Amino acid sequence: MRKVGVAILGLGVVGGGTYKILTEHREMYQKAHGVDITVEAVLELRKERALALGVEESRIASSIAEICSNPDVDIVVEVMGGVEPAKTFVLAALNAGKSVVTSNKEMFCKYSYELEKVAKHNRVGLYYEATCVGGVPVIRALLDNLQGNVITSLVGIVNGTTNYILSKMSNSGADYGEALKEAQRLGYAEANPTADVEGYDATYKLSILSSLAFHTKIPYTKIYREGITNATPTDIAYGKQLGYCLKLLAIGKNTERGIEVRVHPTFIRTSHPLASVNDSYNAVYITGDSVEDVMLYGRGAGAAPTGSAIVGDIIYCATHVQHNYSTFENTEKANPSTKFVTNFESAYYIRLAAEDRAGVLSKITSVLGRNSISVAQIIQEESGEDGKVPIIVVTHVTHEHNITKAVQDINATSACASVVSVIRVYD
Ligand code: HSE
Repeated sequence: MRKVGVAILGLGVVGGGTYKILTEHREMYQKAHGVDITVEAVLELRKERALALGVEESRIASSIAEICSNPDVDIVVEVMGGVEPAKTFVLAALNAGKSVVTSNKEMFCKYSYELEKVAKHNRVGLYYEATCVGGVPVIRALLDNLQGNVITSLVGIVNGTTNYILSKMSNSGADYGEALKEAQRLGYAEANPTADVEGYDATYKLSILSSLAFHTKIPYTKIYREGITNATPTDIAYGKQLGYCLKLLAIGKNTERGIEVRVHPTFIRTSHPLASVNDSYNAVYITGDSVEDVMLYGRGAGAAPTGSAIVGDIIYCATHVQHNYSTFENTEKANPSTKFVTNFESAYYIRLAAEDRAGVLSKITSVLGRNSISVAQIIQEESGEDGKVPIIVVTHVTHEHNITKAVQDINATSACASVVSVIRVYD
């Protein structure tokens, strides 16, 4: 039977999960795929972690050079996270003729153009299913199963931490700070939660997924980004009254005007399948011209789900003679011919605090009208805080620039009303 040796860089949560799956299912892979996959080496500074997992001491390498020169290692699994030293280690492995499987979304999103070039040059594989949405097989779906389609949109809940926080706020009325603390206590959010709550993690994933979906490089710097730190239980409650729930959506659209890519808190109708994706779960909703709508749902993080994606890549790599690379020209920057839409179209939820006197509502609606914004729904409460009454407006689909201008105009209406929050509505 053909032997395939694996080295794992980093035995943290995901590395440990991968090690366990590979060792526990070794016999099944032998029978099903005709390959004997063994973990030949690990690179882990905390030796006790490796020993606790059952790794033999002789297999704990002391440097990346040792792994690169080990002839029994065919595939290097990088699960360290962060850009450096991960990128240097991956480049060393590729240059040593080893295929690489990685879960490192930040490194892959920022440097796949460089890593892929080296992989191609050395005729080795570079696999990255685990970079996006953990155990949910969305990259393979885009690369293989959905290739017959023109993908027109890809909309996802691709970050479990923020989905947990927003679900908690929605279910219990907790404010953002309380929900974040709970997410940290449960181990979903990091001590420094910036990458998740400010939407960086989601932009890395959207960059990787939308480049594959639309066959053109979409650098993460082209993605409009807004995190969830301003989310309030008040807006979530008004949203519920209007039939919406709040999600951090990663939205990619391939329109006649160009590519539209954005990550921001979004109200989505409670009847939409993505609205039922709660807690730390993830899902990606893809629309293709032939397949129509497909939703892939599951665990976006964790030792075993992410390990599942990594082991899937290891088996794919071990059983394919020819490696597949990106379906687009993988450059650092976007192709100059790719048009990006920044003045995108959306419906909007606007919450205002207004003076309770005659003529205020008509002033607000006339500002909206002047900016070509048509009102779809409106709620006015009888009383509010500081003598101001809350007015909630949901607009029909309009352009982002119209809303920006209308907000400026309303805030300039001699203090008769001010805009408290603006949330895009996915329609
Ligand atoms: N921080 C990520 C999340 C983990 O919350 O979804 C998986 O990429």
